[in-house]
Amino acid sequence: MKLWGGRFNKEEDQLMQEFDNSLPLGKRYYEEDIIGSMAHATMLGDVGILTPDESKKIVAGLKEILSDLDSGKLVIDEDAFEDIHSFTELTLTQRIGELGKKLHTARSRNDQVAVDTKLYCRKRGNHFIELLDRLIQALQEKGAENPVLMPGYTHLQRAQVVTFQYHLGAYVEMFKRDKQRIQNALEIMNENPLGSGALAGTTHQIDRNRTTEYLAFASASANFMDAVSDRDYIIELLSACSLIAVHLSRLSEELILWCSQEFKFISMDDAYATGSSMMPQKKNPDAAELVRGHAGLAIGSLVSMLTIMKGLPLTYNKDMQLDKEAFVSAFDRTDQTLTIMQKMIATLKVHGENMEKAIKSGFLNATDLADYLVKKGLAFRDAHDVVGRIVLYCEENERAIEELSLTELQTYSDQIKQDIYDYLDYEASLKQGTKSEIRGGIKE
Ligand code: ARG
Repeated sequence: MKLWGGRFNKEEDQLMQEFDNSLPLGKRYYEEDIIGSMAHATMLGDVGILTPDESKKIVAGLKEILSDLDSGKLVIDEDAFEDIHSFTELTLTQRIGELGKKLHTARSRNDQVAVDTKLYCRKRGNHFIELLDRLIQALQEKGAENPVLMPGYTHLQRAQVVTFQYHLGAYVEMFKRDKQRIQNALEIMNENPLGSGALAGTTHQIDRNRTTEYLAFASASANFMDAVSDRDYIIELLSACSLIAVHLSRLSEELILWCSQEFKFISMDDAYATGSSMMPQKKNPDAAELVRGHAGLAIGSLVSMLTIMKGLPLTYNKDMQLDKEAFVSAFDRTDQTLTIMQKMIATLKVHGENMEKAIKSGFLNATDLADYLVKKGLAFRDAHDVVGRIVLYCEENERAIEELSLTELQTYSDQIKQDIYDYLDYEASLKQGTKSEIRGGIKE
């Protein structure tokens, strides 16, 4: 069933029908399509384009369709309609009769799909903010439960001592920024495109402020042509989702390393690992690997959407219908990966003893020793050189710096005094200078 056909002499080719059918993904926002239609019909009643009774009947019919879809009483037949808009209008007409045909007065599918997509993006975006909050909380709790020292790395080489909590705190900051990015995108998109018509408004005196209010937008969009052409908000959300994916992927990579035999810093809960069909001993961190892999697909969606839009003339072009393939999958992916990461973090076991063992080799206190010498009057570059030679000596003799006696240390600099051991102690060094922030944990 179609919403058009008057000017055609020939039936649409079967292949063309399949090619053009956007319902399989469009039905994901049936709720938004119906709510947008209810706002439109209410406004048509407000301004007298529909009688109060007509408007009420249309809204009631739409409401019933929505509740039947929610309950499963009504199932969308993907092959029977061209898109979600056709489904809604034709189902309404089936149910309430000829009056249903008045719903589309002063509206085009171009402003309809724009409003649907915005409402859908708003719903999903708000949910991502909730999921990010949950993940942030899991990271904060896991860190607070495990107040252990661990090596911090650069170039994946042991560098300086940090705490496990502080390391997780770095991800907390990333996910906080992700939240902010989604909030920004939701704020920028907060303009109502409904009422733009196909591209040039309508000869009916509709009231866009009403639908703006009913659909809780901040304002009506300023330019009809822009409003039906605009998919920036999808791109902005996909960009935020891509960054979330990058952050999740980096965290996954660390979890994968940390649960390897080489690190043994953590164990993954059995619920988020799988085994090998051949090697009985294997426990693989599949959930983290999948999250890392999903990042590639998430970034692909952003690139797809940018590429679809880049050459389109104003205003609506059918290319834009394919946006759903990019955003529905990216949103589902974001939802799933944030949730699974939160569960992985909440259930993983931390082996603090192995983290602490790891800080004992690798001279993670060498920089602190150099800082000590600076406080005793040496220039930093000279202090760097002295400590470099101490490290060389330790490496050749398989000793740690803190294992050297005061006399041994003094052969490198007579500025070294007994208080050096306060600097060489890993925990004590975290009380010095700005390092005290590391023990301060994750900032609220
Ligand atoms: N089916 C389209 C989509 O989902 C909406 C219809 C756009 N308008 C049109 N004239 N075909 O994006």
